[in-house]
Amino acid sequence: MPLNNKKIIVTGGPTREWLDPVRFITNPSSGKMGIALADKAAGRGQETVFIHGSINSDLLKNKSYRTVFVDTTTDLLNAVLKELTPNSVLIMAAAPVDYAPAVKSNTKIKKESGSDELIIKFKKNPDILMNVAGMREQHKGLKNIFIVGFAAETDDIEKNAVDKLNKKNLDLICVNDVRRKDAGFTADTNAVTMFTRLGERIQLPLMRKEEVASRILDQIELEMNFLNR
Ligand code: CTP
Repeated sequence: MPLNNKKIIVTGGPTREWLDPVRFITNPSSGKMGIALADKAAGRGQETVFIHGSINSDLLKNKSYRTVFVDTTTDLLNAVLKELTPNSVLIMAAAPVDYAPAVKSNTKIKKESGSDELIIKFKKNPDILMNVAGMREQHKGLKNIFIVGFAAETDDIEKNAVDKLNKKNLDLICVNDVRRKDAGFTADTNAVTMFTRLGERIQLPLMRKEEVASRILDQIELEMNFLNR
């Protein structure tokens, strides 16, 4: 089996970027898709680690695998790099915040001291997938790492997904329309279409996230088998 002896690194949930000690920006990612993937990977006997942002702690109860909490997108990047080994499969189901405030105030921003407008300058966060794919290009020892991305889209869904697959140099991308209530950030179900590096398009029907996770792992196994990773 191609997943034998692989370390499965799954990320899930949102990151947070702090404006001051009491305020942050984030997104509504629940982490459920990531947990379903980690559960199924561990269920197949794989060494699994789940790196997650701030999610409902009840979802993390009674897990047989390691879980690692991260706060910001930079923390997520560092945690992924720390876990990465030459035999890793990285599944990035997390929803990292793309921009962080350029300056984080060490003290609470007081409304009395400002005007009627609060203008915040943001700087771009690192892209975790791009970093890992870049490292795989540069280091021979990492050439067998298998990289899976997700694409949360609202428009031009399939085109955006394939563009991301190519731009981020992924092996597989799983796209879903986050405008759908039954397939969005917090739902228990998902309607995913997968695009592979080999040019395949696999459309899954609406199903529970656990079932989607199994199908994604099956596809990873198939593709790894073909690529001889
Ligand atoms: N991702 C990442 N690092 C980031 C942002 C996103 O690795 N800083 C990963 C996500 O975990 C996901 C994939 O990239 O697997 C696509 O994320 P998505 O939010 O759909 O797209 P972005 O790359 O952020 O691009 P855009 O927001 O412009 O659609």
